[in-house]
Amino acid sequence: MVTEDSGAAVAGERLQKVLARIGFGSRRACEDLIANGRVTVNGDTAVLGRRVEPDCDVVEVDGVPVGIVPGAVHYVLNKPTGVVTTASDTHGRETVVDLVPREPRVFPVGRLDMDTSGLLILTNDGTLANLLAHPRHGVDKEYLVEVDSNGRAVPERVLVRLRRGVELDDGPTGPAVVGQPQPGVLRIVIHEGRNRQVRRMCEHVGFPVVRLARTRIGPLADPSLAPGRWRLLSTDEVFALSTAATKGGQVASRRE
Ligand code: URA
Repeated sequence: MVTEDSGAAVAGERLQKVLARIGFGSRRACEDLIANGRVTVNGDTAVLGRRVEPDCDVVEVDGVPVGIVPGAVHYVLNKPTGVVTTASDTHGRETVVDLVPREPRVFPVGRLDMDTSGLLILTNDGTLANLLAHPRHGVDKEYLVEVDSNGRAVPERVLVRLRRGVELDDGPTGPAVVGQPQPGVLRIVIHEGRNRQVRRMCEHVGFPVVRLARTRIGPLADPSLAPGRWRLLSTDEVFALSTAATKGGQVASRRE
């Protein structure tokens, strides 16, 4: 087994310390993760004693990239309607960033329309943001959608069209999971995140959206979070999101 290097001026921070700092358990538990070959640095299986430079090294646990830059925060906000999803608005409107602590500065991951409410992640963690935003990765997003159906149920054949995908002006939409928990209220799960996608899909099949809320991002849902409120994500939640984004929705527990 390779152990601690004892050089006088050694660059970087010990890997087990970094993993413990970002929430992977005690240093001892993190040493076990490393010793069990579950951690890689820049693609190579790490050994005990490995040091890393948070600014440039890429660390993965069980094949899932983890952000190691100190001071990373991850919020989930229940965005209310009427608030813009941007880090700063040139028209002086209230933005999602105004609803979370000012420091450290964070940015929204993806966007919800001004008229859409629901879950939105804000972070300064580039690793998670890239994973979630990358079209090849990405995670399922679930929406609760009230449509204009004159109080009647949307016909099954329309739901089938939405499930199969519809042709929008920027190309066909992928397969979607579509249910109707109540007449005129749809639950739509999509994997893509194109501009105003759900609104355009519903409009396309003749049922314009009246109200739209995002209720889930991959493994993350929180029905108890009131509109306008935010909370910090736990390390488990961040890792579950990263896992879902890396492994196409398969959510693994890092404690197994
Ligand atoms: N689809 C939309 O149409 N709007 C959103 O805000 C999110 C998804």
